[in-house]
Amino acid sequence: MDHLPEVLKILEGALKSNAQMAVNYANLLAEKLDREGSGQHAKLVRDKLSRAPKQLFSTAGVLNPLPVDSESRFPLADETRPVVDEGRILMNAQTTALVNEFVACVHKADDLIAAGVGFSPSILLYGPPGCGKTVLANQIAAKLALPLLTARCDTLVSSFLGATSKNIRTLFEHAAGRPCVLFLDEFDALAKARDDKQELGELKRVVVSLLQNIDAQSHNTVVLAATNHPQLLDPAVWRRFAYRIEIGLPDNEQISALLNSRLGNYATAKESETVVPLCSGLSGALIEQAAHDSVRAAVLANRKAIDVADLARRLVRAQDGGRPLNLEDEMRLLRSRAPNLFDYRTLHSLFGVSMRRITQVFKEQKEDAHERAAA
Ligand SMILES: Nc1ncnc2c1ncn2[C@@H]1O[C@H](COP(=O)(O)OP(=O)(O)OP(=O)(O)O)[C@@H](O)[C@H]1O
Ligand SMILES: [Mg+2]
Repeated sequence: MDHLPEVLKILEGALKSNAQMAVNYANLLAEKLDREGSGQHAKLVRDKLSRAPKQLFSTAGVLNPLPVDSESRFPLADETRPVVDEGRILMNAQTTALVNEFVACVHKADDLIAAGVGFSPSILLYGPPGCGKTVLANQIAAKLALPLLTARCDTLVSSFLGATSKNIRTLFEHAAGRPCVLFLDEFDALAKARDDKQELGELKRVVVSLLQNIDAQSHNTVVLAATNHPQLLDPAVWRRFAYRIEIGLPDNEQISALLNSRLGNYATAKESETVVPLCSGLSGALIEQAAHDSVRAAVLANRKAIDVADLARRLVRAQDGGRPLNLEDEMRLLRSRAPNLFDYRTLHSLFGVSMRRITQVFKEQKEDAHERAAA
């Protein structure tokens, strides 16, 4: 029976006294009947819903109200409706293929279950900070046309004994109210290894409760999790995810595309190409920030194009960790990384220092090097 999944969910909502869940799935059933041309049957379902007592549920179709921490009453998650924005995230070919395959599996979940090869729709995104995990989670929800329920896992952790496991349960029960993407950001805050000697028994209980909740999810809840610290994850948690996708530092192709997209008309493709080598080791977030800062500087100076040397300087500073440097040390750093881009004349216009002074700085540097070599 094609409508069995919805009927079972309506039943589950009724048995758990979760009127919102029953209503949401009844609405989905009505939509499905409409699509199949059974408008009369859809109308019967909607008529029934319209006669339900109003106090039973809030606005139909909205995940509402958001669950809150039992002690602080702070919301445990945010709900958004991301829209597809193809240029927003630039992934390598392998990641793109995996994400597309995942989306196709979610769309065909009923068929996969019918074929006896069930599918648990879950992805663990891991990798260094600022490489696009959060943006990708938003894109996946947008591609699936599902609401995104984002929980920052550190806010789920409570200092009260047992309250963290309760928060996790409340969150997953809320997510089960209708099809949605549940995104567990900063996931390591919850899923640290069970054998971490520093942690107490409470953490073990939290991990067990997390595993139980992940296992109990139906295929209507797509679970995404993101972490910068995959090594902290319990192997049992790691295994639970159908897909584990590493979102690493961008490769040269992604860097070029990111620069072109964020610099827009403010630089030619050839100009952005010259700074690609200065982006190696940088996250997408740092590259994006340098590009945006250069465009901002151009706009403030009433220019229609960025100063490529200014962008290159921002990137080298980011590669250097952004530590404070005096002017001379900064000039030395720039020339050591990209002598072609930072000739004396460019340094002169970037820093407003006289050519004589610049020549002097690098002469002293050469003399120092000679002395060191001789010693
Ligand atoms: N590959 C990428 N393509 C496009 N934009 C990117 C990419 N990587 C990072 N960015 C940009 O960097 C910013 C930060 O990305 P995001 O917040 O998704 O990173 P993250 O991996 O979730 O970081 P964290 O681990 O610190 O939470 C975003 O504004 C995003 O536009
Ligand atoms: Mg993030």
